[in-house]
Amino acid sequence: MKEAQVLRKGFALRQLVERLSLVEDPGFWRRLQPEAPITEHPWKAWEDLPAPGRPEGASELAARLRQEGYFQTEPLVPEAMIRQMRSCIEAVRKAGFPPMFALVYDVFYQALAHARPTLEAMLGPDFQLVPNFWVYYVETKDDGKGFEPHRDAEYPDTIGVDGMPTVLTVWVALTDATPLNSCIYVVPIHRDPQYPEALRDLRTGGQRIALEDIRALPTQAGTVSCWNQYIYHWGSRSSQRARTPRISYALYCQRGDVTAVDDVRLDPRGPIGFGTRVALICRSLYRYSHLSIQENEDATPLLDFMARNGVSPPARPGFLA
Ligand SMILES: [Fe+2]
Repeated sequence: MKEAQVLRKGFALRQLVERLSLVEDPGFWRRLQPEAPITEHPWKAWEDLPAPGRPEGASELAARLRQEGYFQTEPLVPEAMIRQMRSCIEAVRKAGFPPMFALVYDVFYQALAHARPTLEAMLGPDFQLVPNFWVYYVETKDDGKGFEPHRDAEYPDTIGVDGMPTVLTVWVALTDATPLNSCIYVVPIHRDPQYPEALRDLRTGGQRIALEDIRALPTQAGTVSCWNQYIYHWGSRSSQRARTPRISYALYCQRGDVTAVDDVRLDPRGPIGFGTRVALICRSLYRYSHLSIQENEDATPLLDFMARNGVSPPARPGFLA
């Protein structure tokens, strides 16, 4: 098989295309994981709750975001939800699909509701999701690893005049992430000599960073980590000594009162139907695959499938952590 036909995380494009009829059948996913609901409006149950207030410690987190470029919450996703999400991901992998397809299940959207007060405190009450999703599964092997060192740097001008980002990467840990199973490493922005340059030039690397300024972020399951578009970061090499795989999922969120940064965004207060979910999953797989796949005619059925479900192809490849 040509390398160009293998998606970034090792799933064959042709194999996915051949199974698109299965992918678009909600009954298939319900049979695969009967206890995990798929409804039209996974956030609806949360709408009946009182409006969340500003969470304790939000000011401290905002100060970290301005000074260091990132913050991490206390674990805030309930353990039962984490267990269900892990179970969904394992079932999807066992069925031979990329773990991304676990995002057909409601629980991944409902879990984000627990981060909503924090996200509202950072991005305003009408923040939106930028659904460039990714689900990570780094195996407990010496050759497992997360994404290489990079800045997300997909969107220019996303730091407001108050120093607060208008776009955040939101990364939810579903297992404990440790130095042995590919936790995230960052270079806090105030220790990065190239950060000012990165604000002006999205292609800025990290060649002048001192090793002692690298910070490991061991992370407890259920924690939500957020960072801005220009901080230098990566997922480390895993190890066969790791006790669990590193499982997590991520997306972007943006302020609702600024121009949309991408061609797709979602209101986390409205419905997100099954068809939209599978199309967004395919869009993200396409988006984060090697660029060569995006020029590959074998991808045409995948693009047609996305169009049938109302999702256009992404304008450019992505680089989420
Ligand atoms: Fe990233």
